[in-house]
Formats: sequence, C-alpha cells, structure tokens
Amino acid sequence: MNKIDYINEGKQILRDKDIVETDSFCGEKIMHASVPGLGGAGRGISFSRNKSSLLKYYIKHRMLSDHFSPETNTNFFGQDIKIPIIAAPMSGIKTSLKGVIQERDFHKSILEGCSDAGTIGMCGDSYDTTAEYHVPELLKDVRGIAVCKPRIFSDIKNRIQLLSVSGVHAIGIDIDGAAGMLLEAGKVTKKNPLELKKIRSLFDGPMFLKGIMSVEDALIAHQTGFDGIVVSNHGGRSIDYSLGTADILPAISDKLKRKITIMVDGGVVSGYDAFIYLALGADVVLSGRSILHSVVGGGRTGVTETLNKFTSELKRAMLFSGCRKISDISSEVIEKYE
Ligand SMILES: Cc1cc2nc3c(=O)[nH]c(=O)nc-3n(C[C@H](O)[C@H](O)[C@H](O)COP(=O)(O)O)c2cc1C
Repeated sequence: MNKIDYINEGKQILRDKDIVETDSFCGEKIMHASVPGLGGAGRGISFSRNKSSLLKYYIKHRMLSDHFSPETNTNFFGQDIKIPIIAAPMSGIKTSLKGVIQERDFHKSILEGCSDAGTIGMCGDSYDTTAEYHVPELLKDVRGIAVCKPRIFSDIKNRIQLLSVSGVHAIGIDIDGAAGMLLEAGKVTKKNPLELKKIRSLFDGPMFLKGIMSVEDALIAHQTGFDGIVVSNHGGRSIDYSLGTADILPAISDKLKRKITIMVDGGVVSGYDAFIYLALGADVVLSGRSILHSVVGGGRTGVTETLNKFTSELKRAMLFSGCRKISDISSEVIEKYE
C-alpha cells in the first residue's frame, strides 16, 4: 500500500476552505492568502524568497566510495534527537485555520508527533489576548520547547515562570513578533540589549532568539547571553521584502558557528531542503507549514510520518553526498547553481 502523504492530505482539507499559502513567484496556482491565514505579508515576496533562495544550490554527488548507512542523530541543547529537524513554533491557529482545529489540540499533536519521531516540537505564543496559555500544562507530559512573543517584561516573566516549572526544554522569544494586534494593545515591543540581558536572566536553561535576519542582530543575541538563534523571517509573515533565509545564513554561520546553536526555517518541505540549510551552516532546521499541514491531514501520526519521510530524504542526500554523520554536512557538499 502506498504511504499516505499527510502534507497533501492537510493541504486538500484546507484548500476546500480556501486556506492556502501565497505562492505568486514559484509557479504554483495563485490564490488569495494572507496573515492571519497561511500566507505571507504584502505581496508574499519574503515568503517566496525563502523557497527561491534554497533553489540556488545543488547537492554534489559522490557515489564512488564505500557504502554506508548515514547517521542522522545529533545533540540539541543537551538532548539527543534522531534528526536535526524540528517543528517550528506556530500559534493563532484558531483564527488562521478558521476553526479547523483548536490550538491546544494542534500543539499536542505536534509535541507528541515530534516525540514519536525522536525529535522535538516547539509551541508558539498566541496574539489572542483572551486565550489561556496552555503550553506549560502540555509540556508536563512531553518534551518540548516554548517560544514566547516579545511581550512587555512582566508578561514574559510570568510566562517563563509558568514554563520553568513545566519541564520546558528551552525557551525562545520571537523578536520579530513585535507587531500585530498585541503591539496595538501595547503588549509587545522591540527589545534593546539591556532588556535582552534582563530577559535572559529569567531562565537557567537554554534560551534563544527567533527572527534573526542580520549578522548584527545575531552578534547581539550572542553578546547578550543567548544560547541560540533562529535565522527566520517568520515564513515571510512579518514584513515583505526580507531576504530569503538561505541568503543570510552563511554570513551568520561564518561569525557564530560553534559559538551558539544556529537554527533556521523557511520553506522546508522535505529532508533535502533541510540538508541544504545544514550545509549552509545550520545546526538544526525548523519546518512550519509542512508540519501544520500534517497535523490537519493526520494529527499526531501525520506529524510523525512527515518527519519520518524527511528523515529518509535527508539520509538519501547524505548517502549521495558522502556524509556519514550530520557533522560531515558542510559547504563542501553543495555548490551554487550558476
Ligand atoms: C499559521 C502560522 C502561525 C505561526 N505562529 C508563530 C508563532 O506564534 N511564533 C513564532 O515564532 N513563529 C510563528 N510562525 C512562524 C513559524 O515558526 C516559521 O518561522 C515559519 O512558518 C517558517 O517556516 P515554513 O516556511 O516552514 O512555514 C507561524 C507560522 C504560521 C504559518
């Protein structure tokens, strides 16, 4: 029996409700998409650049050598994970998916599905000011990571206190979340280095900043004591006219590889995409919309099966390029497509 493609299953369910991604530049059918929803900001240029920046590379084939079985396990903030691919944080699900799934069930499926695949999931922090913060309670039962909005200090402190007692594995702040409804309500702000240091001191475990798109910001994250960064333009959802993440990742990696954990996201729909990001300097790769589609298509099982598919694609790329283990994946194994 053919394996179910849970990403496509989910896409089909959402398409029937007119919930689609923006994709005006990559040749797919253009449909209306926005934020909230699954689209990108403005004309969807940042969204599309994530995909087109990956397309600039190809994998060098090195087949004529001893056969081997690639090992995909890696260490991530002190935890063993079977693959360096994890679920990106997402929230605002009730609104973005027009009630197709409730946010708590969505997060639960992601955390459990990632755990079943031997990796780890992240949970986002909703703009919905009325919603209860259910993430700490979920994290008591399954390992996971929480990403909080760049709320005002007292709100971040409250969230971090709740998370600390839940057994959260690491905490991130999506600094590019300083926009939208919460900003209008005075609830989220940009953060300067002094504020960042204060936030960093709130949690003893690993902390990272998500939404880094310049070498300057990456260096500030390092200098203010964060253990990691996510190179991300929020899937093109924050502003239009950002770079694609694969365009900026190598410069950031040049400065910070092995000093902090470098994560990246944007347009990951297969293990091959993840392989390119690893070759460009990432330690761990996040997937957002593909995981979201998999939850809609098959819940916890959908997430696990999609991650299993990513694993076999990543292994295939490693076999073809001669990489026995994750640390063998470097800029040597890819080339820019002229
Ligand atoms: C519906 C939706 C909700 C999101 N919510 C959050 C969030 O709460 N916090 C966050 O840091 N990123 C959020 N993101 C951004 C993702 O974490 C990720 O950066 C982005 O989707 C890029 O990955 P992709 O191209 O694989 O989708 C959201 C993305 C989507 C599609």
